[in-house]
Amino acid sequence: MSRLVIVSNRVGIPDGTARAGGLEVAIRPALKKSGGVWFGWSGKVTDDTPEPAKTVVKEDVAYVTVDLQKDDYEEFYNGFANRVLWPILHYRLDLAEFNRRDLSGYFRVNEFFADNLASVLRPDDVIWVHDYHLMPLARALRERGHKNKIGFFIHIPFPPPEFLTALPNHERLIPALGHYDLVGFQTETDANNFSRYLSTEINLRRLGNDSFEYDGRVVRAGVFPVGVETEAFAKLARRAMDTPFVRDVVESLSGRAMIIGVDRLDYSKGIPDRMNAFERFLTNFPDWHNAVTYLQITPRSRSDIQEYADIARQVGETVGRINGNFGEASWTPLRYINKAHSRTALAGLYRAARVGLVTPLRDGMNLVAKEYVAAQDPDDPGVLVLSRFAGAARECTAALLVNPYDHEGVAIAIDRALSMSLRERRQRHAVNYKALLQNDLSQWAERFLETLDQPPVTVRQSIRAAICR
Ligand code: UDP
Ligand code: G6P
Repeated sequence: MSRLVIVSNRVGIPDGTARAGGLEVAIRPALKKSGGVWFGWSGKVTDDTPEPAKTVVKEDVAYVTVDLQKDDYEEFYNGFANRVLWPILHYRLDLAEFNRRDLSGYFRVNEFFADNLASVLRPDDVIWVHDYHLMPLARALRERGHKNKIGFFIHIPFPPPEFLTALPNHERLIPALGHYDLVGFQTETDANNFSRYLSTEINLRRLGNDSFEYDGRVVRAGVFPVGVETEAFAKLARRAMDTPFVRDVVESLSGRAMIIGVDRLDYSKGIPDRMNAFERFLTNFPDWHNAVTYLQITPRSRSDIQEYADIARQVGETVGRINGNFGEASWTPLRYINKAHSRTALAGLYRAARVGLVTPLRDGMNLVAKEYVAAQDPDDPGVLVLSRFAGAARECTAALLVNPYDHEGVAIAIDRALSMSLRERRQRHAVNYKALLQNDLSQWAERFLETLDQPPVTVRQSIRAAICR
């Protein structure tokens, strides 16, 4: 069997610290099962020439990491990846701050990754690259003569060509995905947007439903929604209820119903809109005063970027306003915490919460939504209030689906969730839980790698088939 080499900007070396981010959460179990290599950035920034890649081996996985030079960190990570690609791919053209220096830094770091990977790669390795930081990596590897199977999975949304073409130099970047053998997306919509870009913007020849001819090779697009380890997470949540931490939190609620939100502090998560909706809920449904506590866990993220500092300030002000206006000496309506929590702690808190409030303005998948469902007690489950703009809404169809921009609508959904009969809660939970079981995280990597392993129909075969149809 070929060795699996995962490449992503962020590498989840298991060190016992709590970190937020769906990519790490998704990849770790997949790699643990097969063993292999996980290559990427060490998280360190250096003023000097970076040292050669470092390797740490833990339980059949070699974690190989490189440091980034200061300019690279600024231009590649803070600059092009997070100030240009992140907003554009989340449909936020208004927040994109393009400049040519960052774009060249982005290509430079992709080349740097490719150079460092050369010493790691064997000819029969299967390479699986993740996320928007590394879109041109396959091209850089092909240019260095690597003929391996290379797959790419994008964890975040992929917008329609009308958005992508607002990216200056998009024709240098998006077509580079054609050097992968397989490009995976979270939803059909994302995959269709990619196919539409390839056929309408760069006129690639379509060889079948999901295959295109690019540079004499075949690139396929596929849909592989990331799941959670459903049963294992449910078990973790059951156990976590007995930990001192979760017991303390539950006790501190003094019998009030808990609403929970868990998000990186990111503008895509719609936290200010969600808080405004909570404020509307408190205004429109005063019977709930002193009977409900909204706990928002929000680890800081990408703090060097202005938009992230802005959102942190905005959220802080909103929390102050809500607690100032509605709070009492014995009741804080909104508890806002910036500390990252362990998965065990989160699992227990999800289970203890009557409502899971997950209202991103746009999200590739949103694993928190799925974790909330997995964590519930099936006999007395809480209710998921979920943005229709999260990929998870395609599977969690029995959640209360909301438009996060409609604060009044979200306020009504919160009231409905808190008032819902046990019968309806059970029915909705059973539907969502079944969907999670059917698309467990354990199958995600398998499905992707099996598809990557299938021999592509050769260009000639596909053309022949197309002619015969
Ligand atoms: N997470 C965590 N600790 C925290 C906050 C979040 O472990 O304090 C985890 C959370 O359980 C989830 C992931 O980080 O698995 C976030 O993934 P999601 O897809 O919801 O959002 P992303 O951060 O990837 O945009
Ligand atoms: C999302 C992205 C990941 C990223 C994570 C945390 O999940 O899809 O690629 O690793 O956020 O963000 P950070 O910038 O800290 O890696």
